Formats: sequence, structure tokens, C-alpha cells
Amino acid sequence: GVSSLMRVTPSQLKHNSGRKGRAAWSSYQGKVYNITPYIPFHPGGEGEIRRAAGKDGSKLFMEVHPWVNWENMLGECLVGIMVAENDGLI
Ligand code: HEM
Repeated sequence: GVSSLMRVTPSQLKHNSGRKGRAAWSSYQGKVYNITPYIPFHPGGEGEIRRAAGKDGSKLFMEVHPWVNWENMLGECLVGIMVAENDGLI
């Protein structure tokens, strides 16, 4: 449920870049997803989806496949919502 969602700041999102052994997070329209488990299954390849890691992927996503329903596909991977930098709990 929504109560278990983290409040994620821009610097926390950037930290989870999928590099240096870290998880890959990406935000879409204010929601933050852990895309790590999906990366090997991405039909467009790992390199392409990794371009959205650690950042807001909305623009890249919409440029390539606006018809793909990411909320359906990544629902299980939802970890939080974006908040302002000074609004995080950690
Ligand atoms: C293809 C999902 C992020 C680039 C696809 C397809 C799906 C998908 C389902 C197949 C679409 C179809 O055949 O109609 C996702 C999800 C993403 C994501 C769930 C977010 C987590 C991205 C990003 C990029 C990207 C950020 C580029 C920067 C591509 C490309 C293809 C593709 C180029 C076409 C591959 C081909 O037809 O040969 N993706 N994608 N994707 N994706 Fe993504």
C-alpha cells in the first residue's frame, strides 16, 4: 500500500544508479521504481534501460515507447515517491 512507500529525494535517486553494486532506481511521473530485476528482461536491451537509472526516466521512456504501460509492468517494483531534497527522512 501507499503507506509503505519511501520518500525519495533527488540525491537518493541519483545514488541508486545501478553502478558500484548499487540498485538501479528510476523515477516516472513522480514515482520511484527499483528497475534492477527488470533490466535483464528489457526488450530494448540492458544498455538502453540503464540510461534511465538514477534519474527521471519519463522523457527517455516516452520518446521510445509511449505505448508501454510502465505502471502495470513495474508495479511490483514501486519503492517510493519523489520529494524535495530537504524533505527526505534519511
Ligand atoms: C522496448 C519496457 C525503459 C529503450 C521495450 C519494450 C518494452 C519495454 C515492454 C517492448 C515494446 C514493444 O515491442 O512494443 C520498458 C520499461 C522501461 C523501459 C518497463 C522502464 C523501466 C527504456 C528506456 C529506454 C528504452 C529508458 C531508452 C533510453 C527501448 C528500446 C526498445 C524498447 C530502444 C525497442 C527495442 C526493439 O524494438 O528492438 N521496452 N522500457 N526503454 N525499449 Fe524499453
